[in-house]
Amino acid sequence: MTNRTNPPPQSPGFPINWEDEHQVTRRTFVTFLLLLSTTFVASTGLIGLLNWLRRRQASQLAPLRIAQLQEIPIGGVTLFHYPTASDPCLLIHPSAEIFLAYSQKCTHLSCPVLYQAAERQFYCPCHAGRFAVEDGRPLSGPPKRPLPRIEIKVTGDEIWAVGVQA
Ligand code: FES
Repeated sequence: MTNRTNPPPQSPGFPINWEDEHQVTRRTFVTFLLLLSTTFVASTGLIGLLNWLRRRQASQLAPLRIAQLQEIPIGGVTLFHYPTASDPCLLIHPSAEIFLAYSQKCTHLSCPVLYQAAERQFYCPCHAGRFAVEDGRPLSGPPKRPLPRIEIKVTGDEIWAVGVQA
C-alpha cells in the first residue's frame, strides 16, 4: 500500500507544485548564463574564423589578364569576370595612368551597375543607387556598402586582376 500524503521525490529542475513552477534555481540560472556566454564566445570566434578564411581565400585568387592598356581609352570601360565566371566586374580608365576595377554587382540587391564617365559615378538602374568612382563608396540610394574593389596590377602593357577587396 502506498502512502498518498508524501509526494514522490522530485528533481529541483522539474517542480511538481504549481507555486514552484516559475521559480528558477540559482544553479539553473548560472548554468543558463554559462551556456549563453559560451554560445556567444563560440559564435564570435566562428565569425572571426570565417572572415579570416574568406580574406585568405581572396588573397589567393588566381590572376586573370583583363586587357591591354591600349584597349581602354581614357573614359573607357570594359567588362570582365573575376574571380569566377559568375562575378561580373568593370575595369574603368577614368584618367591618364589610373585604372580602377570594381564588382559590377550592386551591394543593395545585386543589379548590375553602369559606369557614367561624365558624372564619375556608377549608377544602379534598379533603385537609383549611386557609387563613387574613386573608391566605390555609396553616394545615394538604398546601397549602404561600397562596391567590392578588384585589385589590379599592370605588368608591361597588360592589366591583370589579382584579388578582391571585400
Ligand atoms: S539593386 Fe542597386 S540600388 Fe537596389
